[in-house]
Amino acid sequence: MRNVTKDNITDVFCGYMADDMAPRTREIMTSLVKHLHDFARDTNLTHDEWRAGIAFLEGCAAIESEDRHEFVLASDVLGLSSLVDMLHSKPEATSSSVLGPFHVSGAPPLAFGGDMKRHYGGPVLLAEGTVKDTDGQPIAGAELDIWQTAPNGMYASQDDEQDTFSFHGLMTVGNDGKYAFTTVKPVEYTVPSDGPVGDILRACGRHPWRPSHLHYIITAPGYKSLVTEIFPEDDPYLDQDTVFGVRDDLVMTYVEKPVSDFPDGLELSGKVAEETFLHVEFDVVLAASE
Ligand code: BEZ
Ligand code: FE
Repeated sequence: MRNVTKDNITDVFCGYMADDMAPRTREIMTSLVKHLHDFARDTNLTHDEWRAGIAFLEGCAAIESEDRHEFVLASDVLGLSSLVDMLHSKPEATSSSVLGPFHVSGAPPLAFGGDMKRHYGGPVLLAEGTVKDTDGQPIAGAELDIWQTAPNGMYASQDDEQDTFSFHGLMTVGNDGKYAFTTVKPVEYTVPSDGPVGDILRACGRHPWRPSHLHYIITAPGYKSLVTEIFPEDDPYLDQDTVFGVRDDLVMTYVEKPVSDFPDGLELSGKVAEETFLHVEFDVVLAASE
């Protein structure tokens, strides 16, 4: 096409694609370019604004590393990561929620009733529940990969003071599908905001806070793996999570109980000085794999 105009450029782009290209790639590229062109037309995008967009992408690339995933963070704060999660969540299973950039694979095994809190200060939280299928039957042998921040709001991979797998544990459930562990009550924290994504948050007048949460990845042969999180119902950021991760079925009550109610046989973390501990029960439902 010689006479490319602002009105036909989208069709011209589509016409340049080969007849024998992969159908899904065609579908994605057609839709992507259509929305991109419409975005430029709708906003009457200027050269300066186009340059600012390119500078944003270059800024993300410049700080991208094994420990800093700025593009993923951009996707998170724009709501894209959560939207993709929700598009592929199974309504009959527990909701999925953002993985985030701070999970470390290869966590050490955590025995049933084991403790992740160790010497750290803060309220003890006992988390327990059952991994079930959609008929309510326990899934024997399911694996729970658990992680959270330390009480300073930092993940092990962000913090030189913590060892590699601090606040990470891998629990395999028994025939009854049950899991239980103690940890410190998670705290709310900010996503990294010292890079280009922070600039976007500030430009939009947004804060970088996430409500406190525990992360889980639950896997079991024959079931769709689930990446999710649980949140306490009294968290001040529950209704304004900067990465859009909160779902109704992931919001729990942390119940305060006297230490005398702590179940026998579980490890009471740090042999708490306090007279109470917090207790949360959260069952996980996995959908069968397709
Ligand atoms: C997280 O929960 O670990 C997280 C999720 C998205 C962006 C940053 C952190
Ligand atoms: Fe997190």
